[in-house]
Amino acid sequence: MKLLLFGATGMVGQGVLRECLLDPTVEGIVTVGRTATGAQHPKLQEIVRQDLWSYADVAPALSGFQACFFCLGVSSAGMTEKDLLTVARHCFPKSVLESKDIRAAAVRNSKPQA
Ligand SMILES: NC(=O)c1ccc[n+]([C@@H]2O[C@H](COP(=O)([O-])OP(=O)(O)OC[C@H]3O[C@@H](n4cnc5c(N)ncnc54)[C@H](OP(=O)(O)O)[C@@H]3O)[C@@H](O)[C@H]2O)c1
Repeated sequence: MKLLLFGATGMVGQGVLRECLLDPTVEGIVTVGRTATGAQHPKLQEIVRQDLWSYADVAPALSGFQACFFCLGVSSAGMTEKDLLTVARHCFPKSVLESKDIRAAAVRNSKPQA
């Protein structure tokens, strides 16, 4: 199995990367992010870039995956509801944001509006 991982340097992404490298069913993992993880492993290939919106120049390296982990993001802990929804608009499809249940779950940890 070949996997793609965004946000491998974060708290969640580091854990995903570690488990994937240990898993014998994973043949290879490609990470994409603005910072290198610093990890060295025969199964690991890292794509480090500042522009995370366009990938035409690395297209050949971004194919043949069976799964993708998208762990890139910011923690909602302590964020105001307004800021959280601004971030979410960049991260999630409109259909997800329009779901009342998902929206309620997302703002549960945020600070009340001032
Ligand atoms: N931690 C939890 O318990 C938890 C629980 C549920 C959901 N989540 C969600 O999971 C996601 C990751 O959480 P985390 O705790 O792992 O966060 P984290 O430790 O802050 O890691 C964030 C990751 O996203 C990257 N990143 C952040 N802002 C970026 C930007 N503007 N451009 C490019 N890369 C950026 C970071 O890269 P750099 O290393 O380059 O900064 C890092 O790889 C978030 O969406 C969070 O809301 C987390």
